[in-house]
Amino acid sequence: MAVSSAPGKVYLFGEHAVVYGEPAVPCAIERRARVGVEQRADSKLRVHAEDLSLDGFTVEYGGSTDDRPDVDVSESLISAAMGYVDEAIAQVRDVTDEDEVGFDVTIESDIPLGAGLGSSAAVVVAAIDAAARELGVSLEADEIAERAYRTEHEVQDGQASRADTFCSATGGAVRVEGDDCRSIEAPDLPIVIGFDGGAGDTGQLVAGVRDLREEYGFAADTVEAIGDIVRRGEEALADGDLEELGRLMNFNHGLLSALGVSSRSLDTMVWAARDADAYGAKLTGAGGGGCIVALDPTPETETALSFTPGCEDAFRAELAEAGVKRLE
Ligand code: MEV
Repeated sequence: MAVSSAPGKVYLFGEHAVVYGEPAVPCAIERRARVGVEQRADSKLRVHAEDLSLDGFTVEYGGSTDDRPDVDVSESLISAAMGYVDEAIAQVRDVTDEDEVGFDVTIESDIPLGAGLGSSAAVVVAAIDAAARELGVSLEADEIAERAYRTEHEVQDGQASRADTFCSATGGAVRVEGDDCRSIEAPDLPIVIGFDGGAGDTGQLVAGVRDLREEYGFAADTVEAIGDIVRRGEEALADGDLEELGRLMNFNHGLLSALGVSSRSLDTMVWAARDADAYGAKLTGAGGGGCIVALDPTPETETALSFTPGCEDAFRAELAEAGVKRLE
């Protein structure tokens, strides 16, 4: 049995715009998915997952998605999680040339699903590393990131950037622009997260921005303006200027709102953080529901969020210096 973990992430800047070639800066956080993989005697894939902010589920099926039994996937997120694991294993079969190999896969995660914290990327990265190692193959972080990106690209019908998967594989703060991904220096960031208990549909939200861009020139300008914010944000990160970072995060949130990807609960949490004198706050990830990220070295924002209607959980998150970790 091989067990690997990989971190979730927040977007300091640039989600959605990154889909159109603008830069983005995600940052790994110490909330992890742990994936255990054990080779089976047959070619089946069996997945057991708990703590995915959903009831535990166990599914067993043959080598392909078509063979999947008619499980009660009342939670569409469960089937989404299954799709990611399925494709991640397909990537490992491909990279190791072991087409017929089957696995028992166990997933545990303390990253809320679909909430903007890169849960699927973390599961995919950890699964690829663990499954490859179970077959005696040790992949470099770059190869894991590439295979994890291909997994998300496949599952999300071609609508995926490299940001989540690269950040989860390598850890730290990252700059992503098109196919170019690299680690960047970041100060110790006082990250506070608010979670509304919900999740957005990434595919739908990305499609909504695409439609707006096609219909309105000013929506395309808005996407470009987010790119400008990211470039200024990189300078503020390099300078360790938390006040400027916060201002730029506020600006970024406003533009994401204009693109229609915020929600009442995300806006309420952002305002609660601002009222608590956070340096700044914004939604993180695809939006529509899920999480906000704020910067505040004092306990004020976390406390304020915990009393904010619509906020189900508020917590502090350390920057994760390490990406994928080999636990067993
Ligand atoms: C989702 O976490 C971030 C988006 O920019 C989509 C992507 O980059 O794949 C909305």
